[in-house]
Amino acid sequence: MVVIRPGPVTVGGVALKNHLVLAAGVLGTTGASLSRMLSLGAGGVVTKSVGPVPKDGHPGPCVAVLDDGLLNAMGLPNPSKDFVEEIAPLAGKPVVASIFGTNPEEFAAVAGWFTGRVAGFELNLSCPHAEGYGAAIGTDPKLVEACTRAVSSTGIPTWVKLTPNVTDITAIGKAAERGGAGAIVAINTVKAMRISTGLRRPVLGNRYGGLSGTAIFPVGVRCVYELYEACKIPIIGCGGIVSADNVVEMMMAGARAVEIGSAVSDNIRIFETISAELYAKDGCGVEEIIGCAHG
Ligand code: SIN
Repeated sequence: MVVIRPGPVTVGGVALKNHLVLAAGVLGTTGASLSRMLSLGAGGVVTKSVGPVPKDGHPGPCVAVLDDGLLNAMGLPNPSKDFVEEIAPLAGKPVVASIFGTNPEEFAAVAGWFTGRVAGFELNLSCPHAEGYGAAIGTDPKLVEACTRAVSSTGIPTWVKLTPNVTDITAIGKAAERGGAGAIVAINTVKAMRISTGLRRPVLGNRYGGLSGTAIFPVGVRCVYELYEACKIPIIGCGGIVSADNVVEMMMAGARAVEIGSAVSDNIRIFETISAELYAKDGCGVEEIIGCAHG
């Protein structure tokens, strides 16, 4: 297996302790859990998404555990502005705030609360099951560009998390790039559903949800590969990563760093597990690896 040299990395203006970042949504709802993931080897952490008003989320069941992944329809539950105090103890740490809104003004307002308190923002333009939010905006290149600009124009590093639920993800990636994104994160969950044959009803309270975990890894690799050919800004690979070899594969597709989410629910020490296999002092430089599957 390819191993790489360890060391800090800066992606899209955010300084990380290594290439492995906690993805939004998993263990990202409290300052304590985010802090724990940093102490367990995450190179940076992304918070659970925070929006302009408090939200309870969708009615349950909100999560279904599948053989090869998780199906969720949480519905973006969050305490809104109160989350600023929740993460105050993490000042100076590599914490990226995931934020959402229905329009550029709301994105700018939410970003304003966190300005000076986080290392950067990740715009959630990709949740596949929240009316008016996420992919409802993130499938329209003009809105993606405008929402990105509303945050990036503050000068704070801005990552944009993309939905795979589009015909051409490169059109959305390029829109984020035009809007001033420092990096793009690919991908958020794949819109999906399961039906309980016993109950003759959808399993999730919201009926539709987002699929994450190993089932979507090949979709993530394909999206990163396409984005690498179309965009100049760095790409952060996300979706079903569970091993060091998965990280290397994402890098070969074009990712400069990766986010890990669902795997954390199976192994709280996943960052240490992957780092132990991925890094070696005599490993190769990442520049040799990133995008090497192209051409
Ligand atoms: C949720 O809270 O519903 C999940 C967020 C997302 O898919 O981005």
